[in-house]
Amino acid sequence: MPGLDYASACKVADGIPGWLAPQEAAYLYNVGFQSEGNILELGTYFGKSTYLMARGIRDAGKSHQIITVDIHHRGIDPNTSKPLILAEDSPLGVCRSLKEHGLEDVVIQMIGWTHACVPLLNFAPIKTVFIDAGHDYESCSKDFLAVRRQLPPQQRLLLMFHDHSCHFPGVKRTIEELVRTDERCRYLDQIVSLFVCELLPVASCSRNGNQASHAVRC
Ligand SMILES: C[S@@+](CC[C@H](N)C(=O)[O-])C[C@H]1O[C@@H](n2cnc3c(N)ncnc32)[C@H](O)[C@@H]1O
Repeated sequence: MPGLDYASACKVADGIPGWLAPQEAAYLYNVGFQSEGNILELGTYFGKSTYLMARGIRDAGKSHQIITVDIHHRGIDPNTSKPLILAEDSPLGVCRSLKEHGLEDVVIQMIGWTHACVPLLNFAPIKTVFIDAGHDYESCSKDFLAVRRQLPPQQRLLLMFHDHSCHFPGVKRTIEELVRTDERCRYLDQIVSLFVCELLPVASCSRNGNQASHAVRC
């Protein structure tokens, strides 16, 4: 029976590997529940955040979808010069948990590098973007700029970044240098390390709230 049930969604998500604080998990579930269109997620890993947003969409009885992008590759281990196998089976884990919870119809997985996948997408039905892929400045800024390029001028977008904290200087620098200074950006909230803003349609961006936004001080 559909309905707001973040306690049970968060309980399931607790069993999926990942790094979300309980408040962030509840917020992401609610993002799915309140969604007004499709959601693009950059960085799937084992699908913890994917599950929460997808479960929110389903519990709200909505027909929106999540497109989630991940290369499922952790780079090269400097000690062995072999691919890192921190989470070798993450794509399998995502498929298994989506199937187990009947969410295959809600989630579309793209396996690839974000810089190659984002330009292929039609942003018209996408109303929310969650950036949680590469956390170094080069990757995170590239992801933001790729999204920014694809976004039609008259479209509003809810935009979230995970790990906006001193532990991830690349995410922090992207937000401070590129996001907050973007004339379309209006700050909305910070939940633990989840930075939430919106990108406004070009015509309405003179009234943005960047000045009053929450800044992480290290
Ligand atoms: C922090 S994890 C995502 C966690 C997930 N959002 C969650 O909450 O459970 C980051 C993921 O992004 C992927 N990733 C990092 N850089 C990427 C890139 N440039 N393109 C595609 N995937 C990338 C990694 O493979 C990893 O699985």
